[in-house]
Amino acid sequence: MLFRSQGEAERIRHATDASMAAQLAALQMLKPGMNEHDIEARMQYEFLKRGCERPAYAPIVGAGANSTVLHYSADDAPIMAGDVVVMDVAGEYAMYASDITRTAPASGKFTDRQREIYNIVLGAQQAAMAAFKPGKSKLTGRDSDSLFKVAYDYINSHGKDLHGQPLGQYFIHGLGHYVGLEVHDVGDPSGPIPRGAVFTVEPGIYIPEEKLGIRIEDIVWVSPEGKLVDLTAGLPHTAEEIEGTMAGSPTAKQ
Ligand code: GLY
Ligand code: MN
Ligand code: MN
Repeated sequence: MLFRSQGEAERIRHATDASMAAQLAALQMLKPGMNEHDIEARMQYEFLKRGCERPAYAPIVGAGANSTVLHYSADDAPIMAGDVVVMDVAGEYAMYASDITRTAPASGKFTDRQREIYNIVLGAQQAAMAAFKPGKSKLTGRDSDSLFKVAYDYINSHGKDLHGQPLGQYFIHGLGHYVGLEVHDVGDPSGPIPRGAVFTVEPGIYIPEEKLGIRIEDIVWVSPEGKLVDLTAGLPHTAEEIEGTMAGSPTAKQ
């Protein structure tokens, strides 16, 4: 059953709001010289304090080369200046999950190359969301209704690796999944996405050779009118918004 009742949607929203507070706290504290587990512990503290019972999945805080490791969960390495840090961390509230990722530069400023790759991932996410049609779009597949294809084509036609090759080969997971009682909830990802569904949109590019992994993961709900509502709208999305939040800018999206 992909349609979420009002009560279910409210629980997912609570888990998401608490997890957004955790993401903001992480962005504001992140500095070179910390350990990945410093960030992980603070994030868990922030969402537990807001009523979550537990993490919705094994938290991922991966710096530098670890940012390119898909299910990294050791979270025990030092964070160096020049690293990007993937933070895929969210809580569970009243049995309902959230699932959010932000990627940030440890030193507070993306390098030109990190910014280039970040902007490609963000562009892919925005292209997939813009292409969404309720009752028609699908999460997987290679045909024109597939949001995965929209994101993949965007990534594969923007930027290059160090060998001049396109970047599609570095998008090594699906675009998203339904979220409910389970973080990866039931529901056929190859079928049309109905009104009332909650799912993630999470493109990523992972280039081990450059120790550079970027994922941006937002969680969205399809309103009764068929509009895509970004439940994570209160978080920074662009590279500049991430940097502004890290600098404590009052204009940063919060
Ligand atoms: N955190 C698990 C996932 O993004 O699917
Ligand atoms: Mn996910
Ligand atoms: Mn995730």
